[in-house]
Amino acid sequence: MTVDRTFPAGFLWGSATAAYQVEGSSTADGAGMSIWDRFAHTPGLIADGDTGDVACDQYRLYRQDVALMRELGLQAYRFSVSWSRVLPQGRGAVNPAGLDYYDRLADTLLENGVEPLVTLYHWDLPAALDDRGGWLNPDSADWFSDYANVMYRKLDGRVKTWATLNEPWVVTDGGYLHGALAPGHKNRFEAPIASHNLMRAHGSAVKAYRAEGKHRIGLVVNLEPKYPASQDPADLAAVARADAYMNRQYLDPVFLGRYPEEMTEIFGEAWPTWPAEDYALIAQPIDWLGVNYYTRNVTRQDPASWPLKATSVRQRQATYTETGWEVFPQGLTDILVWVRDRYGDIPLSVTENGAAFFDPPQAEDGRVQDPLRVSYLRKHLAAVHDAIAQGVKVEGYMVWSLLDNLEWSLGFSKRFGIVHVNFATQARTPKDSARFYAQVVASNGAVLADEGA
Ligand code: BGC
Repeated sequence: MTVDRTFPAGFLWGSATAAYQVEGSSTADGAGMSIWDRFAHTPGLIADGDTGDVACDQYRLYRQDVALMRELGLQAYRFSVSWSRVLPQGRGAVNPAGLDYYDRLADTLLENGVEPLVTLYHWDLPAALDDRGGWLNPDSADWFSDYANVMYRKLDGRVKTWATLNEPWVVTDGGYLHGALAPGHKNRFEAPIASHNLMRAHGSAVKAYRAEGKHRIGLVVNLEPKYPASQDPADLAAVARADAYMNRQYLDPVFLGRYPEEMTEIFGEAWPTWPAEDYALIAQPIDWLGVNYYTRNVTRQDPASWPLKATSVRQRQATYTETGWEVFPQGLTDILVWVRDRYGDIPLSVTENGAAFFDPPQAEDGRVQDPLRVSYLRKHLAAVHDAIAQGVKVEGYMVWSLLDNLEWSLGFSKRFGIVHVNFATQARTPKDSARFYAQVVASNGAVLADEGA
C-alpha cells in the first residue's frame, strides 16, 4: 500500500545555515571578533586547525548561494546574524557595513522568492562581551535585547519569522559544562547560570519584539527523545534526568513557567534558586517553536557519567552517521507529538534536520552521490508527515544544511550539506540529496509516497 505523503498547502520548505559556519570574512569591514574567532584561533581546539575565517565565503558569495536556492526551488532560508558583525563591541555603536550585509541578503532572498527566517544567536557571542563575563553576566539579557532591537528595526518589514536563540542547551553544555565549544569552559557552577541568562535573554528579546516587531518570534531548541534501556527503575530515573537536562530545561520555563524538578538532582548545590521575576520574563508567550532533530538516545544509568549519571546505549543493527548519531526517524515523530502533548498546540517548524555522511569524491560528470543522506532525508520527512497526520501543527522543514560548512570543533571534516563545497575553490555542487530534496519541494512531498507502509 502506498501512503500519500503530500504535505498541507503552504508548508514551508527550506534549508538552514549559521553565520560562523558559512559566512567567512568574520572580522572584515569593521566586524568585531566573536568567541568563535577566538576559539578557532586557539591551537588544538578545532580539528585540523580549521577556522571560520573563510568557511563557505557566503559573505561574498551570497548572491550565488541564493541563486542556487532558487534553482533548487527552496522556499525559505534560515540563517543567523553575527552579532559582532553588526555590533563589533556587542553593544553601543553599530557597524553599518555589517548591518548592510543582512539587509542585502534579505533583499536578495526576497527578490528570488525565498523567505528569510532569522536566528539572532547561533553561538557566536561578541568577544568583547565575553570579556565582561559573557552569558555569566546577568546584563547579557539586556545586551541581547538591545542588539535584537537593532535587527528588528532594520529587518522586520521583510523578515516575518524570527528566532531568538539557537539551541541554548548546546551553548551551555558545550560552552560552559564540557568545554568542547566556545568559550570552552568546564564548570558545573557556570552551566546553570549561563543557561538561565540565555533564557532571560530570550525572554527579554521576545518582550522587545512586542514593542518593535509586527510578525512572529520564537525559539529554536534541539530536542532528543530519551528512551529507557530497560524498565529498571534506575534506568527510568536516568531517562527522566536526561530528558529534563536536554529537553525540558528549556521548554518548561518558556511554556510552564518553571524548571523541571530534576535540575536540582542533576546539579546539586550548583543549581541556584532563581528570582521569581526571572520566570515571568522567560515565560513571554512566543508565536512559534523551532525544533532541531538529529537523533535519539537510549539511556541507562551510569554513576560514572558526570553530571547526569546517565549514558547512552549504542544500538546494534542501527545506522550511525559520521558524527556518531543513530539514524532514528521515529524519534522525530515522537518528539513533535510530545511537544504538542506537553506544551500545547503552538505552531512548530523543523528548523534543522540532516546528517553528516562520508560523501564519495565527485564523479567525472560532476555528480556527488550521497545515498545515505537521501535515505536519511526521505525517512525523516515521512516522520514529519506522520506527526502532521497525528494533528501536530508542523508548518515547515529546513534541511541542515544547504552547504557543507564548518562543523564547529569538528572543522570541515564532517559534511552535512545537500550541496557539496570544494573548500579550495569554493565551487558548489548539488549532491544527489539536493536533487532529491528539490523534487520533494516541487511536489510538496508527493514524491515521498512510495516510502509508505
Ligand atoms: C547546530 C548546527 C550544527 C548541527 C550539526 C546543530 O546542533 O545548530 O550549527 O552544525 O547541529 O551538528
